[in-house]
Amino acid sequence: MTAIAALLSQARAQIPASEARLLLSHVLGQPTAWLEAHREEELEPAAAARFGALIERRAAGEPIAYLVGEREFYGRSFLVTPDVLIPRPETELLVELALAKVGAHPTASILDLGTGSGCLAITLALELPAAHVTAVDASPAALEVARKNARQLGAAVDFIESDWFAALPPQRFDLIVANPPYVAAGDPHLTQGDLRFEPKVALTDGADGLTSIRRIIKAAPAWLAAGGWLFLEHGWDQAAAVEECLAAAGFCALERHRDLAGIERVGGGRIPD
Ligand SMILES: C[S@@+](CC[C@H](N)C(=O)[O-])C[C@H]1O[C@@H](n2cnc3c(N)ncnc32)[C@H](O)[C@@H]1O
Repeated sequence: MTAIAALLSQARAQIPASEARLLLSHVLGQPTAWLEAHREEELEPAAAARFGALIERRAAGEPIAYLVGEREFYGRSFLVTPDVLIPRPETELLVELALAKVGAHPTASILDLGTGSGCLAITLALELPAAHVTAVDASPAALEVARKNARQLGAAVDFIESDWFAALPPQRFDLIVANPPYVAAGDPHLTQGDLRFEPKVALTDGADGLTSIRRIIKAAPAWLAAGGWLFLEHGWDQAAAVEECLAAAGFCALERHRDLAGIERVGGGRIPD
């Protein structure tokens, strides 16, 4: 048997210390702070072997979130599997904008396009309990994860399998949010880091990165109530193209927002009253 401190120290040869602590706390079902208080405790061989296997997988590049099966988003823990994009901190900007636009109108009807883990739809449903939230995704496997998250977090969301708006019953929303696949097909990031392990359909349109964005913006006015808002997350170099599409589709009050890294990350606009 080996002590926790020794195992963590050995792991540091392969992965950063913070990641080793996360993986060991996952194996033991204990918070990372617990490890500090039990540094000299001996680990059962089976637990040490499970930890060793996770270190190997992490060292080979698998995302931490898939290894531990969860990721925090807007202060809540979401189940994640390789069927869904790992929620990103920059996507919390869409939540903040949505709350700013419809927070004073608590019974708003909201649509989340390409819900993945459900992080946006579920967060909005929990932050605005009187709102009616619908979420769509083309991936049945992603919807399964999103439904589990909604059950686990106690959120009421209508999940629908749909190619963007195609399967939605006719209706008008007060707000639409979308984080569509916006990475261009040849972007080298697709072959680096966590992105190698995430679903391709969540990351790229297989073309110039703007196909989904264009489709959503063009169709959105027919699904928005007068005065309704659309906000989309986009790539670092897509703000101007998104703004152009929004203007061409008849949106007014166009907005551009930067993420915490200072990168233009979200574009949006309103349908005139
Ligand atoms: C970038 S991920 C966003 C996931 C989640 N909303 C988030 O922010 O973490 C894009 C999502 O769009 C979905 N998607 C891709 N093409 C779609 C389509 N044609 N119709 C509906 N959803 C689609 C993918 O399955 C994926 O879950």
